[in-house]
Amino acid sequence: MKILMVCLGNICRSPLAEGILKHKALNAGLDWLVDSSGTSGFHIGEPPHHLSQKVARLNGIDISAQRCRQFSEEDLRFYDKIYVMDQSNYADLKRLCKTAWMPEKVMLILNELYPGEDREVPDPWYGGEAGYHNVFDLLEKACEKIIEKSK
Ligand code: 4NP
Repeated sequence: MKILMVCLGNICRSPLAEGILKHKALNAGLDWLVDSSGTSGFHIGEPPHHLSQKVARLNGIDISAQRCRQFSEEDLRFYDKIYVMDQSNYADLKRLCKTAWMPEKVMLILNELYPGEDREVPDPWYGGEAGYHNVFDLLEKACEKIIEKSK
């Protein structure tokens, strides 16, 4: 199983999603490839936001070695499943992939927890640390569901 987590910057939310799912897959003995990328190229080559790193670390997960990269159409072909954080990520991917679009591979990650509700993982970029804890909690529950479903 090859899974890609996508957000806007690949600096706050999707690095957490990658770290959490990798951690859970390893603990569950699942040989999954998990990666993340951003729809924008603002932060290419940078490590995750320091508050994403901090919140991950407080929960026993080290995401410090991750580096930001931008989504490419190649990712759509390579990955089995692509999770996006919000509706604008979804629209951006669709635009970037043009005629290659594969809607069956792409879904809002919180639809794993709340099917059909189209809830979004809020962007913590403009707020304080509490927003990063909230994002962690949402992603932790969604990733747990992804692991459960695979059993
Ligand atoms: P992310 O958050 O999509 O969760 O990584 C953001 C990171 C950077 C920016 C916006 C959102 N930015 O405008 O640079």
